[in-house]
Amino acid sequence: MFSRRKLIGSTVMATSVLPTLGWGKGLDFQPRGSVGKLERLPTLDLESRDDFNMSYRIFVNGEVRKAAMDRAISILKANKLNINAEVDLKQAITLFENDPILATNMHSYVRGQQVMWSQLRDAIYANGDALMAEMEAADNTGPGKLELNPRMALPDYTKQEIHNQPGGYVGDEFAGHIYYYGTNNFWMGHNYQDEMHIKLAAETPIPADGKVKRILDAGCGDGRLTMALQERFPDAEVWGIDVGGPMVRFSHMRANDLGNKANYAQRLAEDTKFPDGYFDIVTSFLLFHEVSAAANKKIIAETARILRPGGVFAPGDIRTSKGVMTGYRQFFNWWNTRWNYEVWMLEHIGTDYQKVFTENGLSWDANEKTRFGGSANAVGVKKA
Ligand SMILES: C[S@@+](CC[C@H](N)C(=O)[O-])C[C@H]1O[C@@H](n2cnc3c(N)ncnc32)[C@H](O)[C@@H]1O
Repeated sequence: MFSRRKLIGSTVMATSVLPTLGWGKGLDFQPRGSVGKLERLPTLDLESRDDFNMSYRIFVNGEVRKAAMDRAISILKANKLNINAEVDLKQAITLFENDPILATNMHSYVRGQQVMWSQLRDAIYANGDALMAEMEAADNTGPGKLELNPRMALPDYTKQEIHNQPGGYVGDEFAGHIYYYGTNNFWMGHNYQDEMHIKLAAETPIPADGKVKRILDAGCGDGRLTMALQERFPDAEVWGIDVGGPMVRFSHMRANDLGNKANYAQRLAEDTKFPDGYFDIVTSFLLFHEVSAAANKKIIAETARILRPGGVFAPGDIRTSKGVMTGYRQFFNWWNTRWNYEVWMLEHIGTDYQKVFTENGLSWDANEKTRFGGSANAVGVKKA
């Protein structure tokens, strides 16, 4: 199979056959190859737009966010409220919703996000036939396995355009491509070589007996953590599962391209089909805040079922303490839900995960030393 990853530095780039393949099709430019683990965007024009969007994101998340926070503080003070105290969500909305500086911050963020998704999606669709042919050609190749379940019933809560991603994870056949390039932008240049996911894999806690034969990464998305776990545990059987067929399809293609033997399957985290006690470690990164509270409880019950006694559950967005819901935090979570379509964020924040862990026979480790996903991330161990 033609490998776009071998293009950089290759004289083959000058031949006329390349524009009929992959990203190059229909464009004026040749495919631009890869830098390490990053397959570059196909044209200088698109890459420049993406760089611009990223710079804008850095500005909005930095200077503009700071101005919004300062403004929130002055509004709280003017209303004789303690800036560090708990504030009710409704009160926070009333206080901040119509303030122009806070509105500038949130709308700049969302508009930047929309432009970023739309430019990526347009470019991907302009090359849709070739990109689909490439993905299809990779479906049955190895070293890792791919399982797609196109007839699987998709729970309604997954049919959302979370964070404005067009088509979401299940409604666009190129969701994996869109998510991969979109999150490169989202992580503001700090994950081009998967370095953030490699760090997460390095921090993943292991069972006390040190035995790691099988690992599951639930809600694997574009599969970067799954791949990084496979790299850390080369002899383990590593699986990434995701409700989105296009997500695991892209992950499988990318893993194969990079010679990584991780396996991917389109399955639900609440119904994984794996046997009882199969895994030593179950991870997830940024899954729970994008899932309904009812489904989250099922996912944790399923995780407890497939972990062996002493096995470790390390989810990358469940905090051991929800912290103080200050006025600004409440408002931030609300607008992220309302305008950035983080549909399940408020349900996630309202869930008592300690109770859910305990009910399912998982310990709740409140030791907040630095580990997977940051200092206050929950880790559960399956009781014997
Ligand atoms: C924010 S993305 C995180 C992806 C990846 N873990 C990462 O680090 O970028 C959340 C992922 O969870 C998947 N997901 C949501 N609900 C799921 C479910 N019930 N079962 C499996 N995957 C699910 C989505 O399709 C999406 O790919």
